[in-house]
Amino acid sequence: MGSGWIEVVVASLLITLVGGTILTRGRSWLEPVFWKRFAIVGSLVMFAFLWILTFDTLRKTAIGKGRIPDPTVINRKIGYQLDADTGRFKPVVLGDEPLFGKTYTREEAMKLLVKGKLTIQSRNCMDCHTLLGNGAYYAPDLTKAWLDPKWEKIMIPMTGAKTKEEAMVRFLMHPDKYATWTRRMPNLHLTEEEAKAVVAYLKWMSAINTNGFPDHFGQSKLVKF
Ligand code: HEC
Repeated sequence: MGSGWIEVVVASLLITLVGGTILTRGRSWLEPVFWKRFAIVGSLVMFAFLWILTFDTLRKTAIGKGRIPDPTVINRKIGYQLDADTGRFKPVVLGDEPLFGKTYTREEAMKLLVKGKLTIQSRNCMDCHTLLGNGAYYAPDLTKAWLDPKWEKIMIPMTGAKTKEEAMVRFLMHPDKYATWTRRMPNLHLTEEEAKAVVAYLKWMSAINTNGFPDHFGQSKLVKF
């Protein structure tokens, strides 16, 4: 649907008005039946619009459609650039960049993402973090965590890992050992497999165009250690 919310509201009101006027022809506005018919038409029109909007949203939020990238995006490099038209940062999918040295098929990638999501749910990460803005505000939002410059600048040297994904796995398995903040993340006893799946999930999530959310991501000054 190419129309915005104003068009949808105006259209639903117009249809209600036209439909109501037709059904109450010859009736005075002082008669109860006039208002009854308008109420019925109004409710039916609103119901129809909500129905259409629900399916429109489901279509737009389906994996691999619109703003939600295909699972195989984990095989590609994700950049984060300022979009001149909107004045907001948006992810861009660049060249090949295998994750953990592997290129995943669509099925393998999907399985990994599901495991990552289930791991995140099993440990209640949203008790402290937000994902796409949902959750708690104790710890950083994880929507763009994959793109956080801290992995290269602080965590690779700190963990002795060779790659960013390896540094993330080491942090996720031992957050108590590699703390970089006054608030501490507890050790949630993730297995290596679970930590890798979480990293894949975070990489995939970072490629969702969230209209620049979270604001000022990656622009705050890094603390020197
Ligand atoms: C009890 C609260 C708490 C829970 C539960 C928690 N975290 Fe954290 N997390 C933190 C805190 C605090 C930090 C910042 C720690 C630091 O920088 O030393 C953090 C940092 C992170 C980071 C680094 C983010 C960045 O860009 O700097 C990631 C990734 C992360 N957590 C993932 C997870 C995942 C995945 C889970 C669930 C398996 C989880 N966290 C559960 C508190 C929590």
